[in-house]
Amino acid sequence: MKTRVIKFLKRLSIVALAVPALALASEAHFEAAPVSTDPSSLQNGAKLFINYCLNCHGASMVRYNQLQKIGLDEKTIAENLLFTGEKVGDMMTVSLNREDAEAWFGTAPPDLSVIARAKGADYLYAYLRGFYKVKTEARATGWNNVAFPSVGMPHVLWDLQGVQTATETEEHGVKTLKLSDAKGGALSVADYDKAVGDIVSFMVWMAEPNAGTRKTIGIFVLIFLAVFYVFTHKLGKNYWKDIH
Ligand code: HEC
Repeated sequence: MKTRVIKFLKRLSIVALAVPALALASEAHFEAAPVSTDPSSLQNGAKLFINYCLNCHGASMVRYNQLQKIGLDEKTIAENLLFTGEKVGDMMTVSLNREDAEAWFGTAPPDLSVIARAKGADYLYAYLRGFYKVKTEARATGWNNVAFPSVGMPHVLWDLQGVQTATETEEHGVKTLKLSDAKGGALSVADYDKAVGDIVSFMVWMAEPNAGTRKTIGIFVLIFLAVFYVFTHKLGKNYWKDIH
């Protein structure tokens, strides 16, 4: 009886070890996103995000005036980033009607406020670089995506990236899609990757706008504890001095 219990526990521990390993393995095939906290990257990311993504997606947990935290002043936000009568204190909501969106794309575009936490930066980087052209008979939008097969979203950044196609290759019985070089985009491959890196960096910031402050506070707390330790140690010694 006892040995059976031990065997069971052993098996359980193997499973417990394997599960996180599998989770890691399934994420490992995306290239690491060049996530930056540099204000110029975040500002460029914000500009691209507002221009190219907010037509369909909302980021309803973020207010425009929070963009001051990445170094944009209120005047720049009002003059360059607000389009249809929004005010700087407004949330980044979407004007697209949910039912229309479902009819056009098959699914309503999700709110992107915390998408970076839900999906991970590396996935987002692969997704925004992974669109390829297909026949409209195959997909209504004329686009598919290597990171998200049968995606409902069209490639909204195609004027920047250009058009990629995909060919299926088979190696050791495993089918993979290989993307062609993009043609006809306004940006070079390196510049497009940088632009997408900036959008992803902005989405990472948006998912936790106070990450920077939180880290700074953490450092101060550690410094405080270190100084406090020195004093309490000295005080402790002083108390015990007469007793020994
Ligand atoms: C023309 C409308 C439209 C625009 C513009 C648009 N999207 Fe989407 N997006 C969609 C739709 C529709 C979906 C849902 C796709 C699905 O579930 O098949 C989606 C889904 C997504 C997802 C979720 C993918 C997943 O794995 O679930 C992300 C992330 C995303 N979009 C990012 C962006 C970003 C970043 C931009 C701007 C560069 C953008 N989208 C612009 C329509 C749009």
